[in-house]
Amino acid sequence: MARLESVKDRIELRNGTGVPCVGFGTWKLPEGEAGLDALGQALADGYRHIDTAEVYGTEPCVGRALRDSGVAREDLFVTSKVWNDHRGRDTALKAFEGSLERLGLDYLDLYLVHWPATQGADDEWQSTNRQTWRALEELYRDGRVRAIGVSNFERRHLEPLMDAADILPMVNQIELHPGCAQEETRSFCDRHDIVVEAWSPLGSGRVLGSALLADIAARYGCTTAQLCLRWCLQRSAIPLPKSADPARISENARVFWFDISEEDLRRIDELELS
Ligand code: A2P
Repeated sequence: MARLESVKDRIELRNGTGVPCVGFGTWKLPEGEAGLDALGQALADGYRHIDTAEVYGTEPCVGRALRDSGVAREDLFVTSKVWNDHRGRDTALKAFEGSLERLGLDYLDLYLVHWPATQGADDEWQSTNRQTWRALEELYRDGRVRAIGVSNFERRHLEPLMDAADILPMVNQIELHPGCAQEETRSFCDRHDIVVEAWSPLGSGRVLGSALLADIAARYGCTTAQLCLRWCLQRSAIPLPKSADPARISENARVFWFDISEEDLRRIDELELS
């Protein structure tokens, strides 16, 4: 793969769809003007990949910011997710229409199952996951979405889903940051050509106080946040940092001018957060 040089550069999924390599997360993005300003700043800084979800409540704001930006639709990459209350084929199909309407779009680039139904919480969990997945397969076949995937799925959730699927998940979006390296899920996804996306790549701010990360970052002349995002990229994951602060939004997009050495990558892999 060619060297990534900006947040606009794309990583290819197995079906040929390109995903801009750093996305802008919108979980907990403030509502109203502050949210619009943050999204406007992100788009001005070159972010083209916007991650939202039915449950975040940010779809209307994302839709408006995208329209206001004037960026061509084909240059944008928009993800949303079906929420837990809408699992199952029919309900997921309806949830998708709701997301499109709130976003004011006529297709999505990526649609994800937000969380797996799980053993203990749902006696029919495998069947529930398959039914939700059927809806996503239909949407993909009908051209309503360019790619489909899951979020927060571990190997034990992915395997039964994949055994029954016609179209395999192309993406798995998981919590991933130093201190939460998710070795098992990442290596399973690597083996099955499922691209990993990282939610909370800064551990929702928690990793920023790590003395070890601050030390390593100082050697590269980057901030701890940039180190975390670069670590995700070098571990083949697409980070989705969220910020409502203009300077941090720009900072998080500038992660292409340095390489973390193998030795430092391993030290970061092994970090344990207190
Ligand atoms: P803020 O919105 O005030 O910038 P994550 O993406 O891991 O969920 O982390 C989001 C949290 O990290 C938010 O609280 C955000 O706060 C903060 N944050 C985002 N980018 C940076 C940065 N470059 N430096 C410090 N804090 C950041």
